[in-house]
Amino acid sequence: MATSSPVPPPQPATNKSQMNPLPPSVFTLPQTAQLEALYTIIRSKETSRGDFLFYSDRIIRLLVEEGLNHLPVVKKVVETPTGATYEGVGFEGKICGVSILRAGEAMEAGLREVCRSVRIGKILIQRDEETALPKLFYSKFPQDIASRYVLLLDPMLGKGRVPTGGSAIKAIEVLMENGVPEERIIFINLISAPEGLRNFCGKYPLVKVITGWIDQGLNEKAYIIPGLGDFGERR
Ligand code: URA
Repeated sequence: MATSSPVPPPQPATNKSQMNPLPPSVFTLPQTAQLEALYTIIRSKETSRGDFLFYSDRIIRLLVEEGLNHLPVVKKVVETPTGATYEGVGFEGKICGVSILRAGEAMEAGLREVCRSVRIGKILIQRDEETALPKLFYSKFPQDIASRYVLLLDPMLGKGRVPTGGSAIKAIEVLMENGVPEERIIFINLISAPEGLRNFCGKYPLVKVITGWIDQGLNEKAYIIPGLGDFGERR
C-alpha cells in the first residue's frame, strides 16, 4: 500500500525584501510562497523561454491587478437580478498604459488581459553618448493622457547608470511635461534594485511604485543581483 508523508500546511513566505523600511510610496506584492515559487522559476537560468514567458506573464497580471487597487472608486448602486439593490463602487477616471521600450512592451499584453481595450503609449529612453545621462529618443501618448491615470510599465527598476533607475526617472519627467500629475502615475515593475528605488522615490515621492520583489543590488555591469538576467533577451 502506498504511503504518503503528511504535507505541511502552507506557510507565509518570509519577507525577503532587501529594503526595510520601504518608502511610503512603494508597495510589494504579498510575498507568499506561491509568488516566491513563480520568481524562482523565472530567475533560474535553466528555465526555457516558454516557461519564462508563461510565468513572467502570471506575475505581470498580479502586478497590474495590484496597481489597479490604487485607483480611486466612487459609490455605485446597482440592481441585481433578484430585484435587490447592491451598494457597491465603480471605477472613477480613465487609465492608460505607457511602456518604456523595449522591455516594457512585454508587459502590455498582461495589461490588456486585465483592462480590455486600454490605450497604450510608448516611450524610448537611451543613454546620451555625450552626457551619459538618460535621454528621450521617442514618445507617443494618447492625446488626452493629461486627464488619465497612467500605469507606467518597465520590468526591472535598475536601468540607467547615472543615476540608477534613471530611465524610469526620465520617463516620469516626460509624462509630467505632457501634463500628467505626479500623483496620477503608478509605476509597475517585476524586480527593483534598492538604489534604483531610493533614487526614484527621492525624486518622485508621489508616484506609487508597485514592485513584485526587491533584490540585493546591482553588479558592475548594472544587472540586478540575484535578478533574472536580461529580461528583454529572455522573452
Ligand atoms: N534590465 C534587465 O533586463 N536586467 C537587469 O538586471 C537590469 C536591467
